[in-house]
Amino acid sequence: MARKLIAVIPGDGIGPEVIAQAVRLIERRKLPLDLWHLDLGADRYLKDGTTFPKDVADRIRNEASAVLLGALGDPRVPKLEHARDILFGLRFGFDLYANIRPVKALSDRVVPLKGRTKKDVDLVVFRENTEGLYVNMGGQFKRGTPDEIAINEDVNTRKGVERLIRAGFEHAKRRGKKTVHMADKSNAMAHAHELWHRVFFEVAKDYPGIEPKHVYVDALCLYMVQDPSPIEVVVTCNLFGDIVTDLGAALQGGLGVASSANVHASDPARVAMFEPVHGSAPPLAGKDLANPIASFLTVGMMLTHLGFPDEERRIEAACAKALDEAQCTRDVGGTLGTRAAADYILAQL
Ligand SMILES: NC(=O)c1ccc[n+]([C@@H]2O[C@H](COP(=O)([O-])OP(=O)(O)OC[C@H]3O[C@@H](n4cnc5c(N)ncnc54)[C@H](O)[C@@H]3O)[C@@H](O)[C@H]2O)c1
Repeated sequence: MARKLIAVIPGDGIGPEVIAQAVRLIERRKLPLDLWHLDLGADRYLKDGTTFPKDVADRIRNEASAVLLGALGDPRVPKLEHARDILFGLRFGFDLYANIRPVKALSDRVVPLKGRTKKDVDLVVFRENTEGLYVNMGGQFKRGTPDEIAINEDVNTRKGVERLIRAGFEHAKRRGKKTVHMADKSNAMAHAHELWHRVFFEVAKDYPGIEPKHVYVDALCLYMVQDPSPIEVVVTCNLFGDIVTDLGAALQGGLGVASSANVHASDPARVAMFEPVHGSAPPLAGKDLANPIASFLTVGMMLTHLGFPDEERRIEAACAKALDEAQCTRDVGGTLGTRAAADYILAQL
């Protein structure tokens, strides 16, 4: 297999701490991969104003197979200009329309639901990643006055909705799943989510063995807490996907163990971006408290994408063992620091 290039952006806060461990993991596997370390994030922005230069974006697009990102967000940059340029430059700029977020508990010990085990928490959310309320269209009028108005437009295109829904069904087909849920608010958002509703059932006709199930997103939150076991694949819009996957992260043990991929699903050869779901967690930064499992599982997703699915299975099994045996960080009931928790998992591999 030809060597593949991975661009690494550690980012801010705990990002560099967990990505340092992820890099150790990748280097130890001795795969035909080259790492390209990029100095981008709040420090760089504060030093010389650089956010996401065009030549870097072009090289990533043309030469890299994947981007591994830590997290972005720093209290010294209150408006998050750098984070927006980098994160949206990757997601929107490379048209990575499917944000795939597994909600899979690896150990009974971390499942917070009474009477439930890891078998009950195994679903995946396909979040639309390039449209919705996150396109930042809108404006403010009469700002700072008692009459002020603030508007954010919710953009939903037929193409954007259809391709995301199709990515969810394709995943269900590949993995032998029997159902796909589509979560919307078509009862209240009669235009945008009527489109989601209609397109969902149209696309479903191309997948006869898979039952399409519509659910309002508020009800989905209820079901995920009461009994997530019947839910296999969820497709939803950008905002709802963002929110339900934090709820999902809680079901699998917290943000410290939640991974994600950002892909242009209909063309796997395009560069894709992989990041833990969590943010930069400024209060944890520099204290050796960050859980490296989310970034390890994210590397697992990346390695499957790059053609090494056995690596993901191994990484997942090693993380599961660490969680079962409480050889992990405090957020998941252990006592270890970031590096020691990573050492334990690396030793299992
Ligand atoms: N994709 C991204 O880069 C991304 C995603 C979310 C938030 N952010 C940014 O991160 C900053 C902080 O945001 P936030 O506090 O809302 O979310 P956060 O994910 O950083 O933290 C939320 C909670 O989860 C815990 N947590 C997160 N990751 C953890 C880990 N690896 N180990 C142990 N505990 C962990 C934190 O302690 C905190 O209690 C903000 O600037 C925000 O904009 C960035």
